[in-house]
Amino acid sequence: MENTYTMTKDSTSYQTIESITLDDYAQRAEQFWLGTRDHDVSQNYQAFLSAMPDKKGLDILDFGCGPGRDLYYFSKQGHKPVGLDGCKPFCERARVYSGCEVLEQSFFALDLESERFDGIFANASLFHVPSEELPRVLKEFNQALRPGGVLFTSSPRGSSEGWNGSRYGCFMEFEQYQEYLTQAGFSVLSHYYRPKDKPREEQPWLAVVSKKTAYKSGSGSRHI
Ligand SMILES: C[S@@+](CC[C@H](N)C(=O)[O-])C[C@H]1O[C@@H](n2cnc3c(N)ncnc32)[C@H](O)[C@@H]1O
Repeated sequence: MENTYTMTKDSTSYQTIESITLDDYAQRAEQFWLGTRDHDVSQNYQAFLSAMPDKKGLDILDFGCGPGRDLYYFSKQGHKPVGLDGCKPFCERARVYSGCEVLEQSFFALDLESERFDGIFANASLFHVPSEELPRVLKEFNQALRPGGVLFTSSPRGSSEGWNGSRYGCFMEFEQYQEYLTQAGFSVLSHYYRPKDKPREEQPWLAVVSKKTAYKSGSGSRHI
């Protein structure tokens, strides 16, 4: 059934967006885990890690980590990933499955330490942030990354925003997304469409690798 909620700048509406979306994930938590734990995201791991220094022990934020598949992977590669998700059952499973720290936080009320991470991996998660909130979230990513830090995002592409069943989503094409990233102090390094080796019309996912090239403070921007 389609929802008819509309998105406004009013924070109550964001709470509505969040609680309906997170409830949907929570109700299907086991099903989601069984359906996604074996997904092959090696192309995304490779694109993200190859943009960072070639060493172990990188501090990685897995934004919207879900039940922990990618935390486990990064940890096994010798890195120090930390998860972040707002869905309690996912946070619990991710902690047990990966052995990593997982922050139970809302995308609408992030509390990230400044210059804490070498990279942020946002696989299939950032599209749940409404476009009006995207500049704020990207600025917080910018501040949480060390100079030169890398941001990876993979999101369904398109040009619409709203409810898809009981999940809220914002879908953009590369050009629009690049504008948001540039405004937030990132430079795009590469982008590609998924699944691999399909005609474009059968590639609903857009993956973008970008790098922090300017520091975004509360009041302005300076190049680094
Ligand atoms: C499609 S899942 C992706 C999970 C994982 N990254 C993966 O690739 O399997 C989106 C994730 O975003 C989280 N999420 C959605 N809206 C959120 C919000 N407002 N605050 C915190 N987490 C949210 C969900 O709980 C879910 O884990």
